[in-house]
Amino acid sequence: MEGKKPFERLSTVVRPVNYDLTFKTDLEKFTFEGKADISVETSAPTKSVMLNSVSLDIVQVAFKSQEQSFDKVEVSFSKEDETVTFTFPEELKVGPGNIIINFLGELNDKLKGFYRSKYTTPAGQEKYAAVTQFEPTDARQCFPCWDEPAIKATFDITLVVPQDKVTLSNMPVKKETKDEDNKLKTVSFERSPIMSTYLLAMVVGEYDYVEEKDSDGVLIRVYTPLGKKEQGLFALSVATKTLPFYKNYFNIAYPLPKMDLIAIADFSAGAMENWGLITYRETALLIDESNSSTATKQRVALVVGHEIAHQWFGNLVTMEWWTHLWLNEGFASWIEYLCVDHCFPEFDIWTQFASSDFSEALNLDALKNSHPIEVAVGHPSEIDEIFDSISYCKGASVIRMLHDYIGDRDYRAGMHAYLSKHQYKNTFTEDLWESLEQASGKPINEIMSTWTKQMGYPVIKVCQQMKENCRQLKLEQQRFIADGSHENQTWLVPITICTQSSPTVPVHKFVLRGESEMITIDNVKSDEWVKLNVGGVGFYRVHYAPDMLRQLISSLDCKVLSPRDRLSLQSDLFALCRASVAKIDDVLKVVGSFSHEDNYTVWTDLTSNLANLSILYQYTDFHDSFKAFLRKLFTPIMGTIGWEPKESEGPLTAMLRSLVISQLGRNDDKDVVEEAKKRFEQYCNDGVKLSSDLRGAHLKRHEFYNIFKVYSIALGHGGEKEFESLLKLYKTADLQEEKVRILRALGSVKSTDLINKVLDFAIGKDVRSQDTVFGILGVTGSAEGRDLAWKFVKKNWNELHERYQGGFLLARLIKGTTEDFASEDCLKDIEEFFKVHPAPSAERNIKQSLENIKLNISQLERDAPVVREFLASYI
Ligand code: BES
Ligand code: ZN
Repeated sequence: MEGKKPFERLSTVVRPVNYDLTFKTDLEKFTFEGKADISVETSAPTKSVMLNSVSLDIVQVAFKSQEQSFDKVEVSFSKEDETVTFTFPEELKVGPGNIIINFLGELNDKLKGFYRSKYTTPAGQEKYAAVTQFEPTDARQCFPCWDEPAIKATFDITLVVPQDKVTLSNMPVKKETKDEDNKLKTVSFERSPIMSTYLLAMVVGEYDYVEEKDSDGVLIRVYTPLGKKEQGLFALSVATKTLPFYKNYFNIAYPLPKMDLIAIADFSAGAMENWGLITYRETALLIDESNSSTATKQRVALVVGHEIAHQWFGNLVTMEWWTHLWLNEGFASWIEYLCVDHCFPEFDIWTQFASSDFSEALNLDALKNSHPIEVAVGHPSEIDEIFDSISYCKGASVIRMLHDYIGDRDYRAGMHAYLSKHQYKNTFTEDLWESLEQASGKPINEIMSTWTKQMGYPVIKVCQQMKENCRQLKLEQQRFIADGSHENQTWLVPITICTQSSPTVPVHKFVLRGESEMITIDNVKSDEWVKLNVGGVGFYRVHYAPDMLRQLISSLDCKVLSPRDRLSLQSDLFALCRASVAKIDDVLKVVGSFSHEDNYTVWTDLTSNLANLSILYQYTDFHDSFKAFLRKLFTPIMGTIGWEPKESEGPLTAMLRSLVISQLGRNDDKDVVEEAKKRFEQYCNDGVKLSSDLRGAHLKRHEFYNIFKVYSIALGHGGEKEFESLLKLYKTADLQEEKVRILRALGSVKSTDLINKVLDFAIGKDVRSQDTVFGILGVTGSAEGRDLAWKFVKKNWNELHERYQGGFLLARLIKGTTEDFASEDCLKDIEEFFKVHPAPSAERNIKQSLENIKLNISQLERDAPVVREFLASYI
């Protein structure tokens, strides 16, 4: 059998210097005419040039230089490699020249390349905008180019479009002329700095905007749908603070004269950092003060902070190849928190990092089917696959650990050195380590390579010996694997240790290098607890000896342990329990000690761990008793927090209320269900206000997390009538955030018939393709819904596959509909299905799902008898 051809990067014997691009769009026929006049530099004689090109119709190709001129050029395509080869009658001579290409393309509806996005005008008319999304490898769908991040060039863009359209690109407009005969205008933009193709952007459509200059005079605009410009004000204020914040942090000015942020109606990712023209999903940019939730505000701030960080980290300095994608995404996913912490200290956002990025990364990276942060990739489907939680969340987490280890001052100095040394160029991961090493004098490359080149992370097993006034600790490391198996592997682990009398400032810091080490901590009394991993900053789990754990747990009530440490303690315990290292009844007893917890984020993480158990226990006869256990856990905090917001409360209290109500609702608390149903009816029928924090479902990054709130509770305890009311709300809702909230809540319906209706609705014409996945995943909260959703995916496979063209939305859909099963039959069924229906860009996700199902099966088998007994004696 013939093996797969190894992937090859493009040759740069002929390389682009400047692209002069003209596009004439037709927003009725959904086509465009393009012309690319590419100035190239030939470094060795060659007869042919290979570029990337997909789905383009190349009409004419010519080459011109001072000495040579060809207009008969042979053109051949490779569909699989997404390339086009131009072969000239003679060898091109060394030196400058121009390749001139005329081509035709389609404004597609696949949310990539140059595509069309549907919007409705305030008058109710349906229209289309033309927009781009090029990362990672879709610039080649818009024009023939060297579509690799390291082949940078400058760009002159010209758009020929209808006169009434807003026309945007990365740079400001240089010149605009109107042709009254055909009602078209020709807009040309200033030349861009030298940059990668994946960062180019164009938008042609109808928008309003708000604008402001930042403290350095950079003009920032937020473009919104027509008639909604006030919804851009929140993002504008974040952007105006963020741009100078990064300028100061990096000590490098923002290199472009303007920055636009624009909400695009049809958009597959959350947002995209195109240089000077950042595109967003509407829900990731727009805030309607009376209808947006606190969680959405926080998310918008994070997303804006993330994309603006890329303007330096990614755009000015770019990864050399997609293997180093994590540099971009991990770094931006870390610094978005730093930026939000600066703009909104009241969010206590770093604590939230622990329950979002950090937990997500630890869970995924415990799987045998994880992958190292740095991973060799070639073909576009492999590149798509690494936009995952390892690049984002583990990337952000190891950078956080590194920042803590280096200290902010040296870290910033290193960042500045790195960005200035490599500006307008490309880098490997090692380049960053080198700059940080020079700035800090610490062995950064040696330490960090263990985290980025190996997959997984360690569990540190620790036991203590009491000595007079001091504590001797023995630390051992090995890889933590979700199924409890062992692998002898080591990392260079920055360890921090705190004690009861110094709970937030580490009393001891060192780098654990080998498999084990003994250390002594002075001045610790015998009744004091000792904790590793202060603030949960290190990327590892801790397995305490029983006596150490007992001391820590008995202190939970008095809150000497910081919220971040309380969070990390229970998070480790749940993970050790899944790996059958800790016992489930012990863990459930510890959970009881959290009944006096008051921190939103600690509750969030605990809740998500308990929700995972609850999903498993759906397949047992004691699910109802487990629900009763959960009700009992959440009742005291509900008593404190109540339904009504207090005037002086902060955002975290509003979010905690919403979390607690959703948990009590999900677990059938009679009072909460009754109150929720009452409020739902009053809201639907009498227009009584319902706080946006309490309405629907809750967005958790990188995950489609369904939290039961008023909409969901009403639906889950109602029937056809409630379903119809919510559907009506969906159709009349104007704000995209509200639509998505409803869509996700719809899945809480109980009857088979209604679940199927929700699934059909999700894939129907009323839901945008980008949101269908939310709709389908919305039903996976119940055992029956999960079955039906998976059947639905199988039945509609061709349609879904075609819609998402592989791509990460498909990968998320597959993962979300499969990973919660817990039986051998399901396991086999899923395996069989993907043998027949391959999904290349979701291959690893499928393996991860199968691994998770196996873990579910063994966890359930092992724990069910114990939990049954625990609950029987508990109630
Ligand atoms: N560069 C990405 C956008 C992207 C994602 C392009 C996947 C191609 C494939 C952007 O910077 C990003 O990371 N967006 C996130 C939002 C962010 C706040 C985590 C996204 O789209 O989820
Ligand atoms: Zn990003």
